[in-house]
Amino acid sequence: MTQPTTPERRIFSGIKPTGRLTLGNHLGALRRFVDLQHEVRCLFSVVDLHALTVDHDPARLRALTREAATLYLAAGLDPSVCVLFRQGDVPLHAELSYLLECTAHVGELGRMIQYKEKGRDRPQTRVSLFTYPVLMAADILAYRATEVPVGDDQRQHVELARDLAARFNRTYGPVLVVPEMTPAPVAARVMDLQDPTRKMSKEGPDDALGAIRLLDPPDVVRRKVLRAVTDSGAHVRYDVQTQPGVANLLDILGGCTGENDLHALAERYSSYGSLKRDVADAVIALLTPLQKRYADLAANAGEVDAVLRRGAEQAIEIAAPTLTDAKRAMGLGG
Ligand code: TYM
Repeated sequence: MTQPTTPERRIFSGIKPTGRLTLGNHLGALRRFVDLQHEVRCLFSVVDLHALTVDHDPARLRALTREAATLYLAAGLDPSVCVLFRQGDVPLHAELSYLLECTAHVGELGRMIQYKEKGRDRPQTRVSLFTYPVLMAADILAYRATEVPVGDDQRQHVELARDLAARFNRTYGPVLVVPEMTPAPVAARVMDLQDPTRKMSKEGPDDALGAIRLLDPPDVVRRKVLRAVTDSGAHVRYDVQTQPGVANLLDILGGCTGENDLHALAERYSSYGSLKRDVADAVIALLTPLQKRYADLAANAGEVDAVLRRGAEQAIEIAAPTLTDAKRAMGLGG
């Protein structure tokens, strides 16, 4: 037996408050959370501990954490159905992370793309950036999640969580559930509008033209989409290799409208201009109701705080048995 028998279907996912959330976060993750909460037991977290792995301003981190939590609610997450919490309010993520560090290997962490790109060979890199994927594994494994809905960029991290769970179980007995990654059918990797070979990221400057922020007003969204880099080809075709800019716009349009056949979608357009106009309209239509709800919620900060407090209590209750079992299996305690 490599994991506990017939685990209950359960979802965990998180967003790290290192910048203002983007359309990529919405299409790749947040919007899917909203649908999933009605199907299965879900826990969603603003994973603020992960934001400490790089230089940060404490006041901005606190503000971004609140903004992200408020956006969770504005997007339609219902705290009476799913659990919403701040990772930093639940101490056992860090505790389980330490136990998993005692299972993880330096070699596999050294191969993680994020560490290779942002930290390797720099003496000032925070140790926590190196161990980041272990904390992420702890986030998932603490709740015995069976599924992890994330964008495509998180694939390597979820793979590591799977490897660590399986290794832990082989070494110490069947304590952890080996989770599956569940990527979005379309828009699993929304690309930067100015450089469609890079993923759209929340980490750049707030006013970067390549990233649509969820709280961008409609005129800003329109300007960003109309100025998106397209390709020199004359036809609208869905071809990620030769026309990455146009393919990205089609991905976004499909993601916003629910149309999954992007080749068929491309055939409806004879010019880049008309495609861009429809993309701008679709994004604005998607974001307008969310922004209205955000404005209402932001005016009532106490309500968001109460949701997060209650969420942390629920999260602790769900995760505590995993931690107890993991410690006992490893030989800790009496
Ligand atoms: P983060 O904060 O970078 O992104 C949050 C979620 O948004 C998805 N995403 C995208 N999807 C499509 N296109 C994009 N351009 C795009 N950018 C981001 C991400 O895939 C993710 O689903 N390490 C994680 C946070 C994390 C986590 C976890 C996630 C920590 N612990 C446990 C799941 C489970 C991260 O940095 O995501």
